[in-house]
Amino acid sequence: MKHLRSIGELGKEGLERLLESTAQMAEINRRPIPKVPALRGKTVVSLFFEDSTRTRLSFETAAKRLSAETMTFSVSTSSVNKGESLRDTVETISDMGVHAFVVRHKSAGVPWQISQWTSASIINAGDGAHQHPTQAIVDCYTVREALGLTALNGLRVSIVGDIKHSRVARSNVAAFTLLGAHVTLVAPPTLLPANIETWPVKVAHSLDDVMPSTDVLYMLRLQSERMDQGLIPHLGEYSNRFGLTETRAQKLQDSAVVMHPGPMNRGVEMHIDPADLPNSLIHKQVANGVSARMAVLFDVLARGGELNSLQEESV
Ligand code: NCD
Repeated sequence: MKHLRSIGELGKEGLERLLESTAQMAEINRRPIPKVPALRGKTVVSLFFEDSTRTRLSFETAAKRLSAETMTFSVSTSSVNKGESLRDTVETISDMGVHAFVVRHKSAGVPWQISQWTSASIINAGDGAHQHPTQAIVDCYTVREALGLTALNGLRVSIVGDIKHSRVARSNVAAFTLLGAHVTLVAPPTLLPANIETWPVKVAHSLDDVMPSTDVLYMLRLQSERMDQGLIPHLGEYSNRFGLTETRAQKLQDSAVVMHPGPMNRGVEMHIDPADLPNSLIHKQVANGVSARMAVLFDVLARGGELNSLQEESV
């Protein structure tokens, strides 16, 4: 594929392919020297107009492990502060001979717009509340690995919290549904999107009610930076009803797993330390983030490249 901008664009076959190659990248990451020459000569730039810790660092680590050159664009020290437009910024970087842009921006649709201004590949690392496809690949891989499943048919996934502002929720609903899981969104009505009836999901307003019948409990951060109105009358009340407490966690089945994309708001949606949960996958999500992003970079930049050849290669 040339770009990775949304799960819908990727489709089921593409998602399955990337999950398979994530497993192969994970094998490379278990080696004493986790590095292969697969993307030697390619340059990847991370163009982040919004804050990030894990997504940005895992992309940069992934590019380095595949021997690509990396460039980092930092808005706060760039000519954006002198009024340079997004288009001029992209065209300038593109002129330097870049093969892929990893883009994060507060506005939905920016990755599609940028792909009209450069011949490089575009990977969406989060556009507004719209899509975050690599997070969904990480999460589907992490669930498959933890539960030892390939198909997720009938798996009950509950995504809890601020769905309205969450690109993670949008990408994960699409990805989990493509793999056959049943998704329930658990949120107060004010934190659900307006067109929720068109989504392939069930909706619940009580977290307590869904706990016993959940296989994957996916907690979301309350995205106050995207809220322009008082959508929650009282943070304490929200937190009481939709936060994960120790008592509430006991309502989960023993086999259920707990996930969160990070960063966590401790004391808001997470009252319990993930270390105290028997089945938290939160650290695995971060670790798998590098393998999944290696799979994506390899797919867009070594198009036609033979994944199996990586098994014999080392630097
Ligand atoms: C998410 C994001 O930026 O959309 N974080 C991430 O990429 N791991 C979720 C969030 O910010 O709450």
